[in-house]
Amino acid sequence: MLVLTNNHQLELLTDDIAPVPKLGKIKPFRTQLLKWIGNKQQQADLIISFFPKQFNTYFEPFLGSGGVLGVLAPKKAVASDTFAPLIQIWQTLHNHKELLKKQYAERYALIAQLGKKTAYESVRANYNRIPNGADLLYLCRACYGGVVRFRKNDGYMSTPVGIHDPITPDSFNKRVDIWHIRTQGACFLHLDFAEAMKQAKEGDLVYCDPPYSDSQAILYGAQTFSLQRLFNSIAACKARGVFVVLSIDGTKYSGRKLCNIAIPNGLFEREAFINVGRSMLKRFQMDGKSLENHEVRDRLLLTF
Ligand SMILES: C[S@@+](CC[C@H](N)C(=O)[O-])C[C@H]1O[C@@H](n2cnc3c(N)ncnc32)[C@H](O)[C@@H]1O
Repeated sequence: MLVLTNNHQLELLTDDIAPVPKLGKIKPFRTQLLKWIGNKQQQADLIISFFPKQFNTYFEPFLGSGGVLGVLAPKKAVASDTFAPLIQIWQTLHNHKELLKKQYAERYALIAQLGKKTAYESVRANYNRIPNGADLLYLCRACYGGVVRFRKNDGYMSTPVGIHDPITPDSFNKRVDIWHIRTQGACFLHLDFAEAMKQAKEGDLVYCDPPYSDSQAILYGAQTFSLQRLFNSIAACKARGVFVVLSIDGTKYSGRKLCNIAIPNGLFEREAFINVGRSMLKRFQMDGKSLENHEVRDRLLLTF
């Protein structure tokens, strides 16, 4: 079968391979609202190609910067995260988009007064006094590498200023308008994943992109994250007829185990491998031999 991949190259693929979106004609949606480590927007088209053809409400319980939500632009969605200031940003985008533009513009204007580094440090000091969405919005756009990091002992946001110049308010405003439309169907909730997943009903789809406990411990409160608890929620969803797709980082996954935690037998039906511009789908293999030497950027486990 010949299909167009993300790189717009023709690839020869074998028969047990899932459809790859034909991206040759439509430019993929790559405009980012927030800069966020672990953002999935680049891979979102491929991830979405593994979703069921039909589902009711879309759930994204580890929202972060909403890379998949933005590309999917679902009619009806529940988008949630435990990081309260982050959810404030999404709620402001949804309910008061002009306010979101103003919040960014006010902080950006400090550059002209104080210089880029001092402006950033003053916003960061304010955020660390009282964590809030308006400051986090500017920090994630202006911080080094978009890596919003917190000190383990006291939760202090410690990332230094980035070497790049943050985007101008004009450019940010355009992004706000685009993202406001694309996320109209979503309601944004500050929830632990387990609470959000409880709301999913038969025929709904849950896409999970959790933090990985060993590598992201100081990022966005991942300290308390438990994969075992996530597996319990996925099992409960599957039993109710909810479709679940779990993203995993290839380097944290080997054979039957994810971050040294055994994946419960029978929980997932299939496994998909996502590489740069290429995807493969296999029946879920529990022997740990499949494609171990293959350079994999991301993997998906599917309950259907
Ligand atoms: C890897 S990031 C998601 C990235 C996202 N796919 C994107 O495109 O930006 C993981 C997210 O999980 C959130 N998180 C951590 N623990 C959580 C929990 N117990 N319940 C819900 N969200 C949680 C973090 O705040 C973070 O935003």
